[in-house]
Amino acid sequence: MPPRSANITVMVQAAYKAARGLVRDFGEVEKLQVSKKGPADFVTAADIQAEKVLRRELSRARPGYAMLLEEGGAVAGTTPEFRWIVDPLDGTLNFLHGIPHFCISIGLEQAGEMVAGVIYDPLRDELFHAEKGAGAYLNDHRLRVSSRSNLMESVIATGMPWAGRERHEDYRAQLALVMEQTAGVRRMGSAALDLAYVAAGRYEGFWEPALSPWDIAAGIVIMREAGGYITAFDGAEVKLDHGDVLATNDRLHGELKSLLGQANPG
Ligand code: IPD
Ligand code: CA
Ligand code: CA
Repeated sequence: MPPRSANITVMVQAAYKAARGLVRDFGEVEKLQVSKKGPADFVTAADIQAEKVLRRELSRARPGYAMLLEEGGAVAGTTPEFRWIVDPLDGTLNFLHGIPHFCISIGLEQAGEMVAGVIYDPLRDELFHAEKGAGAYLNDHRLRVSSRSNLMESVIATGMPWAGRERHEDYRAQLALVMEQTAGVRRMGSAALDLAYVAAGRYEGFWEPALSPWDIAAGIVIMREAGGYITAFDGAEVKLDHGDVLATNDRLHGELKSLLGQANPG
């Protein structure tokens, strides 16, 4: 692996620091899980604490960069060309229920373009990272999307709307078609890890409606640098604030895009 750039090093160090607290707090969740009140307030505090650590570490290393934090919102910078986009805990519902699948996601945008991404799964110690033009890595190993080209052999990940969310009907139609034509569908509960797993060739594809910028910022760079495609459902360029995301290996993009189109024509 070529040496990591200064920015990637900053992102990785920040993620490692914040992860220590999350892992400790995840251990506590299991105890609170059985209490009557449940661990909800505790998890909110863990999330906010992780974001505090990330904010402190990132701004200490790069004082002028702007930020978009899931919990804290937008933070102006003196070098606003650069912006960190941070999800301190992706997979909150998993964390809350003691399900060991969550991550920290940090993206770096420069002049409106995603240029670096780090997604860290602290329980498996899996660090996915990429920088524009420098390849994508899982720890020290180069990543490449899967080479499967047959949908019937493909595992496709997704995220589905839940209570209070819109467009359930549209989503059900999408799921019905994808279910019928693939080897299996997975809903693991962390969109950032879903993107990292497509980049790592574990899934052939992933789609989810209405995601937020911090769910996808880091994943965009990691996907692209692993040779994958990441777009809107109709194949248009992915936008941080658009939300509907289709990520696939380089072979299945057309087919999955047309399945989503068939599901919701017009
Ligand atoms: C959520 C997770 C989940 C996805 C949701 C996201 P959070 O993020 O990524 O997999 O289905 O759309 O909001 O709330 O755990 O940070
Ligand atoms: Ca998230
Ligand atoms: Ca979150």
